[in-house]
Amino acid sequence: MKDLLITNIGELWTCRCDPPLRQGISDLKPSHDDAVSIVNGLIAETGPSDLLRSKYQGSLEINAGGWLVTPGLVDSHTHPIFAGDRSDEFARCCAGESYQQIAASGGGIAKTVTATRSENAKKLASRGMLNLSTMLRYGTTTAEAKTGYGLDSAAELASLKAIRLLQRSQPIDLVPTYLGGHLPPPGEDVESYVGQLCDTMIKSASESPWPPKFNDVFCEVGAFDLGQSRRILEAGLSVGLKPKIHAEEFSWMGGARLAVELGAASADHLLHITEEDIEILAASDTVATLLPGTAFYLDLPDRPPARRMISKGCILALATDFNPGSCLIGSLPFIMGLACLRLHLQPCEALAAVTVNGAAAIDLHRSHGQISAGYVGDVLLWPVRTLPELVAKFVHVCPMGIIKGGKMVSPMQIRKADGKVYSFSPSVPDLVDSE
Ligand code: NIG
Ligand code: FE
Repeated sequence: MKDLLITNIGELWTCRCDPPLRQGISDLKPSHDDAVSIVNGLIAETGPSDLLRSKYQGSLEINAGGWLVTPGLVDSHTHPIFAGDRSDEFARCCAGESYQQIAASGGGIAKTVTATRSENAKKLASRGMLNLSTMLRYGTTTAEAKTGYGLDSAAELASLKAIRLLQRSQPIDLVPTYLGGHLPPPGEDVESYVGQLCDTMIKSASESPWPPKFNDVFCEVGAFDLGQSRRILEAGLSVGLKPKIHAEEFSWMGGARLAVELGAASADHLLHITEEDIEILAASDTVATLLPGTAFYLDLPDRPPARRMISKGCILALATDFNPGSCLIGSLPFIMGLACLRLHLQPCEALAAVTVNGAAAIDLHRSHGQISAGYVGDVLLWPVRTLPELVAKFVHVCPMGIIKGGKMVSPMQIRKADGKVYSFSPSVPDLVDSE
């Protein structure tokens, strides 16, 4: 692998910090005129171009053209492994039906489960590939990937296997999460399903050739209550799987507190969080992951109190929640823009929430999410000059250059400027300059 040296950067957001960030999320600043060197796939250092040029002779130099450079983005909550199509539910939601009404009349998670069970791991992986390629196009270089549409031992294992196939077949670093606790399978008794999950399914997933890193549960009316959620997460802990939880999404259930009590990596959604929950989360290392795309997509009026959470010291992350029903948004820049508009985050906070703190939500904050020495060489070059410009253009902005683990994964937008230096430039046609 050729070492890289990125020069002529306009605004460089390294997000360098001692992760994760609490109130400090508001203090991140860019540097100007620094270059970035990547050696053997890892960030080596940042500093003045001339200095790094002489130190890293032989590197391939990339002229960033004065554009914005950030770390690769980390999407810490996604459901990319599924079959079938529920896009009709979007129109039904627009016509006024609620998520719960759609689920009760044959749609929702259960519909995706029927479709997913009929496909093998390879088929699921090729569908997942499409989802991941969208995410990559918008700058996601690391993502969590949940199972949760199989809901029996074999079908959940097929989803884990699909994630493994994808780990080997495309550039995004994937972190697998077991979500056998997504919903009691249609027609099955909840208690008996919780028994199967806790007695056999979670253990066999952890002993499979494709073991997950986390174990997640949907703690909600109609899914699993607090006691059942506790049992499911404790079963995961007993075989070494750290908990994650979908908590207080449509109603307050006490899931965020349970997450803290069990040392979960994150508690996600949190639309109905209380002041006391905020204090409990702030005093813990559990990341509070907000998913504003879901409330937007379902047109829910609820907003998590993001400003309050930052001021109290919660570790705030943002993620897409990409899934086939309640949020088909795969773009993290879009989520950053939504978080700024609707949760009143500042651009630097939104960036930190999808880099440093996103990485913390999947326990990767010592290796991913920063342009710091020793971190993976995940770097994005954007066709805008500043971070506020990126966030203001959230609807359509995507990086023009993606470097993943020190390799260029979008080389079509790099032009060879001369024998040695490659240039990034937005892909607009040259003007025809003749009378
Ligand atoms: O995070 N809340 C539960 N699960 C997903 C929705 C999944 C679906 O509708 O297919 C979520 O929003
Ligand atoms: Fe989710």
